[in-house]
Order: sequence, then C-alpha cells, then structure tokens
Amino acid sequence: MSTFFENQAIGEAHSKLILVGEHAVVYGKPAIAMPFPLKAKAIVHRIDGSIMLESSVYTGPISCLPDKMKGISSCINKTLEYLNHTSDGLYIKIDSAIPLGRGLGSSAAVAIACVRALAYLYGKEFTQKELFSLVHVAETYAHGNPSGIDMAAELSENPIWFQKGQETSTLNVKDNLYIVVGDTGRAGDTRTAVENVRKNYDSDPMKIKESIIEIANIAIETKAALVRGDMYLLGSLLNRNQKELMTLGVSDEGLNKLIEASKNSGALGAKLTGGGLGGCIIALAPDLAKGRIISKELIKAGAVQSWCFSTAEGILYET
Ligand code: MEV
Repeated sequence: MSTFFENQAIGEAHSKLILVGEHAVVYGKPAIAMPFPLKAKAIVHRIDGSIMLESSVYTGPISCLPDKMKGISSCINKTLEYLNHTSDGLYIKIDSAIPLGRGLGSSAAVAIACVRALAYLYGKEFTQKELFSLVHVAETYAHGNPSGIDMAAELSENPIWFQKGQETSTLNVKDNLYIVVGDTGRAGDTRTAVENVRKNYDSDPMKIKESIIEIANIAIETKAALVRGDMYLLGSLLNRNQKELMTLGVSDEGLNKLIEASKNSGALGAKLTGGGLGGCIIALAPDLAKGRIISKELIKAGAVQSWCFSTAEGILYET
C-alpha cells in the first residue's frame, strides 16, 4: 500500500561495505568501511490510531512486530519519546533496496531512515550524535553488542576509519576504487557469527587473538595503501584479511566459491564483507571494464545478485 497524505516526511539512508576489519572491530581493533549506494527509505505520515508499519517482511501494528524486527520498534518508540510525541498515530512505510542479512547493514539503514523521517516530520534535525544513539537501540537488538561500525559508515558520505569508543575519521582515498559485490543469496546472521567468534576465542584464545591482531595490522596497512592509491597492495590485503576471517570461522563454502571466482576472473583481491556465514563478498577490480566482467562471472558462479561500484563517481552497475 502506498497512499500518501499531507504531513508526510521521508528519511533515507545508504548501506555500507566493510573493506577490512570486521569482527576484529568488536574487540576494539580498527576497521575501514565505506558507504554503498543501495538505499533504504522510510515514508512517514500521521494517521488516527496507533503506529502501523508496512515493509516487505511485515505489515501491521508495530506493537506486534516479529521478534527479529523488535529493534526497529524500540528505535521508533525511543525516537518518539525523544521528540515528545509518544501518543501520535503514524503510518511508517519502509521501502528498502538493501537485501536483508547480507552484511550490507540493512538493519542500521532502515533504522536511520526511520529516525530521519520522524525528525523531519516533527521539524527537527538530529545531530550525528543523536542519530547514532537512537539507532544504536535497533542495532543492539539486531546484533547483540554491535561495534557501531555499520551506523558510522551509513552516517558518513566517505570511507571511514572506525575504532569502537573513539572518534571516527574520514579517510582520504587517493584513487577511485572499483569494488564488485557478490551476493550468495543466503542471509547471514551477524549475531550468530559474532557469537561463534567468541566461542572460538574461548576454546583457542591464542589462535583467535593472533588473528585479531593480524586483522588490526591489515587495517593499518590498508589505510596506507588507500592513501597511496596502491591497488595491488590493497588487493593482497583483502586476501590476507579473508584468510584471517576463515581462521575466525566466519567464512563458508558459498562465500569461498565466489571469492575464488572473482580472483579467477581478474580481481586483485577479495574477501567476505560484514558478519559472514552467508551474505556478500567484495572483490577489488583493476578498472571498471574488468569489474563488470567479474560481476558477470560471479553470477555464473552462483551469486544471486552482483554490483560493480565505482567509488569516486558513485556509480552502481547491477548484474
Ligand atoms: C557487521 O557488519 C560487522 C561485525 O564486525 C559486527 C560489528 O562490528 O558489530 C561483524
């Protein structure tokens, strides 16, 4: 249903890609993430009665949202409390192009879009800090104990250097990056993936600690490679990061298959992105033409969707 009334507000948010450092970031190590142009939109208008939500997964009162979406109702309620409008009736329509559970940060993007739409509806503009703390409610529900990197990347228009509890900074990337994203079509569960790393940590702390330290080193080297525009080095850093993600136990056969396919078709390096155990891979292409070839090869290798993204131009090609 898409009936629009007066007094309507729209909030938008883009998705994100983690270039390097996922999982280690939960343990306080630095990571690099960037905006990805797939977007979530929330369209809000006033109605009589309670708060209704319309989305591809659920339509009905927010008080009856399924468990896995409870984060979004807490985030909406918390935002309305903050805005002093808890007793208003609202119709909130979520329209998102970000596939769910694929490591692209769909839960944070939907929450940011809702919070922004509510702020606009009531004539308020939230600071980044306010947005961050309101969206954190939804993320805690979705991921357990999130590092906050998804929100930070989705609140930024540029690649970021992120470390939990520290000021996030914007990264200067010398050259355009051609990134190919391949979707396994299987939803990963970040909460489970983070818990698995914790279990592996508890059963073999030396091995997992070493991996986490190596990922932190990779993040530092990646920052330097981005600043210098050294794409060959960047590719090899993605490969090194993937090796560590395999040690952490968050890659799987489907992801490995797409990673190999991308490298066999000319990628400079590739790894999973986000929580893993399903979800997406990213591959670094030397140029746009090669990126589009890799994207097609990923589909042949079993990806259900693939995008080739040119960072400087912000252009997204879908295969
Ligand atoms: C999820 O996009 C990234 C993880 O590192 C979890 C987190 O940082 O909260 C796996």
